[in-house]
Amino acid sequence: MGGPAPLQISVGAAAAGVTLVGVGPGDPELLSVAALRAIRAAAVVAYPVARTGGEGMAAAIAAPWLLPGQRRLPLLFPMVAEAAPRIAAWHAAADALAAEVAAGWPVVLLCEGDVSLFASSGYVQLALRQRHPHCPVRLVPGVPAVCAAAAMAAAAGIPWPLALQSEGLLIRPTPESASGLADLLDQAAATATTVALLKLGRRWPWVRELLERRGLLDGALLAQRVGWPDQLLAPASAVPAEVRPYFSLLLIRQGWPAVLP
Ligand SMILES: C[S@@+](CC[C@H](N)C(=O)[O-])C[C@H]1O[C@@H](n2cnc3c(N)ncnc32)[C@H](O)[C@@H]1O
Repeated sequence: MGGPAPLQISVGAAAAGVTLVGVGPGDPELLSVAALRAIRAAAVVAYPVARTGGEGMAAAIAAPWLLPGQRRLPLLFPMVAEAAPRIAAWHAAADALAAEVAAGWPVVLLCEGDVSLFASSGYVQLALRQRHPHCPVRLVPGVPAVCAAAAMAAAAGIPWPLALQSEGLLIRPTPESASGLADLLDQAAATATTVALLKLGRRWPWVRELLERRGLLDGALLAQRVGWPDQLLAPASAVPAEVRPYFSLLLIRQGWPAVLP
């Protein structure tokens, strides 16, 4: 009842060093076999937390696959705008991971979604290279939330191919202002580019207003907490102008290719 079905998977020799593992956006079933093997082979499982004692999204996603004997290593990445505490956190994380490797432990750092896409693990990778150049680092990619949103939309009866033929796909944080978003949408329309806006949450009320003015609401898809039991996938027109959770994104398509089924 509940949780993924048991899976037999052999634990090969653990890779020496740090493995940055993308665990996907929410559903533990979306981890790759490579991610599962890396997690199962680790002695130490590191994961980001936004505050001391916090659970951590990536750790929650991977929880069904963790083993009782594995040591947990929460790494604090404060969600602040100032540069100094963020840089200090990346350095501290890299030092902590490298220290485990130097002590002979295979380590994984779990990452929500993909490891290279707007992820703390991207900074950790750079910090490890800079501060511990001899520490081996390996990446296991994960399913990005944007791709999972398109898949879950289809499952909900809303086919939403992200890019077709010569279209482009732009994945980026939501601009801070309506004028910034207006410029972005103009460029995207001129270049037949689908836009995926991350970090939508608190910006949704004014984003919605702009899309409505441009007649884009029906063609946009809002995806909230994709892969979690309370996930929401809906045409943007059906979502009221209220602040959404941090884990929400928006897909905006302003046209379709001429040749379609
Ligand atoms: C720091 S980025 C992490 C992106 C992640 N590494 C990926 O590959 O998808 C966080 C943003 O990604 C989006 N996001 C991540 N997971 C999500 C989910 N399960 N449902 C909806 N949006 C999600 C949200 O826009 C959120 O503000």
